[in-house]
Amino acid sequence: MAKLEIKIYPDPVLRKKARRVEKVGDNERKLAYDMIETMRFANGVGLAAPQVGISRRIVVAEDVEGDNRAVLTLINPRITQKKGKVKLCEGCLSLPGVSNDVVRPEFVTVEALNLDGDELKINTGGILARIIQHEIDHLDGIVFIDKVGFLKRKKIIKQLGVKFCMEF
Ligand code: NI
Repeated sequence: MAKLEIKIYPDPVLRKKARRVEKVGDNERKLAYDMIETMRFANGVGLAAPQVGISRRIVVAEDVEGDNRAVLTLINPRITQKKGKVKLCEGCLSLPGVSNDVVRPEFVTVEALNLDGDELKINTGGILARIIQHEIDHLDGIVFIDKVGFLKRKKIIKQLGVKFCMEF
């Protein structure tokens, strides 16, 4: 396994829509293992491939509330059902040093491929549901600060040392 470099906002790769994985093979498995190592080294609980500069639909997420804190790898993940609404504080390895409350669905059903290329379906709530939603957003070029109010976002972006421009 190898530790990868985490791309920091506003790196353009974080704004790209990642492309689907057509076939799960050794390259995808190696990437997932490297992402898990990178995530753990950075003390994160989730990571999406665009965050390591690879614009493909692969995410890893740690089941932090589970007994063995297993790490799930989800390939081409998509949310097929959502329920409820909950506010939770989020941070992101690509936006170091900032965090903010974000409102999202509380429970989700996620369908994806696993590392063997088999279909899997997960019903989850709690922190894992939150991590998965945050990571799937990364695959669509969305970062969590897009989900907070305009003034808050402006403040956070300035805090990151990035020039704030309005988006039209
Ligand atoms: Ni993130």
